[in-house]
Amino acid sequence: MTIDFKQDILAPVATDFAAMDKFINEGITSKVALVMAVSKHVVEAGGKRMRPIMCLLAAKACGATDTQMEPYRKLAAIIEMLHTATLVHDDVVDESGLRRGRPTANATWNNQTAVLVGDFLISRAFDLLVDLDNMVLLKDFSTGTCEIAEGEVLQLQAQHQPETTEQTYLDIIHGKTSRLFELATEGAAILAGQPQYREPLRLFAGHFGNAFQIIDDILDYTSDAETLGKNIGDDLMEGKPTLPLISALANTQGEEHEIIRKSIATGGTADLESVIQIVQTSGALDYCSRRANEETQAAIQALSHLPESKYRQALYNLAQLALHRIQ
Ligand code: IPE
Ligand code: IPE
Ligand code: MG
Ligand code: MG
Repeated sequence: MTIDFKQDILAPVATDFAAMDKFINEGITSKVALVMAVSKHVVEAGGKRMRPIMCLLAAKACGATDTQMEPYRKLAAIIEMLHTATLVHDDVVDESGLRRGRPTANATWNNQTAVLVGDFLISRAFDLLVDLDNMVLLKDFSTGTCEIAEGEVLQLQAQHQPETTEQTYLDIIHGKTSRLFELATEGAAILAGQPQYREPLRLFAGHFGNAFQIIDDILDYTSDAETLGKNIGDDLMEGKPTLPLISALANTQGEEHEIIRKSIATGGTADLESVIQIVQTSGALDYCSRRANEETQAAIQALSHLPESKYRQALYNLAQLALHRIQ
């Protein structure tokens, strides 16, 4: 069965998803015109909005009814604002030029502007979160966003380090990517006053996030800018030891091994063609796909602890669809 995004994932929360826009627009409103211009530039480009959709689905999977959805719409908007902020910051750190099919904020304005507007988006997200008047939720998000920042810093430390282990890679991606997915779904359980669903939703989102980032790291070697809306080869450019390279190092010896080692150590895309070739022929991509598959299975397994519903089914479909990006 092929999964249709609108039909099989979005449909059960389509009304809430549309209503969330109001909060995002409110969130990026600022009396400083430049703040708004930069935020709008990134927000209007869209994006897949997977995290807010997961938040809304998680809320309904926890039993929230149609008339109770207003605070979850706000929570979903907060999640998307935090996500947008991390992308704006990430593009500065990664020196990326293309995001969501548009020139990045750093490329359009400059690094200083992008960093400061990213900061604004995070602060405003917390400003909105306070309105939800839930101390447990506020604490979870405060701790979680610290861990997201730690993940990005951990990644910076690993840059140009060919000795980086798969475990360190997993720590990095859990922080920088999976943690926000966890906040999106676990946050809904907290707000719903259903603490027994926190763990299954956290596990689902954590494993989903791992699979998603592994897939993103594969696509950085196999896809194209047109499809992704961002340039490929950015990871190699920055000398990032992502799983395709960690695995290629484990699978090769001699000249091939040296090419990968050197590319991580120095960065740059001079050897991009050979690196792609080695990543493909050494079995590294197969290994990454298998790991993404395992993480997806673990995510799906965690869902079994939630009551059966069309919302749970939609979360399941989303995990399957994310995997299809590389199949
Ligand atoms: C990009 O996330 C950052 C990663 C975790 C790889 P998305 O691929 O969800 O970005 P948008 O929101 O759809 O642009
Ligand atoms: C994910 O890492 C970034 C965040 C979670 C902020 P990447 O650097 O791989 O993301 P892209 O490829 O730029 O979207
Ligand atoms: Mg990046
Ligand atoms: Mg990437």
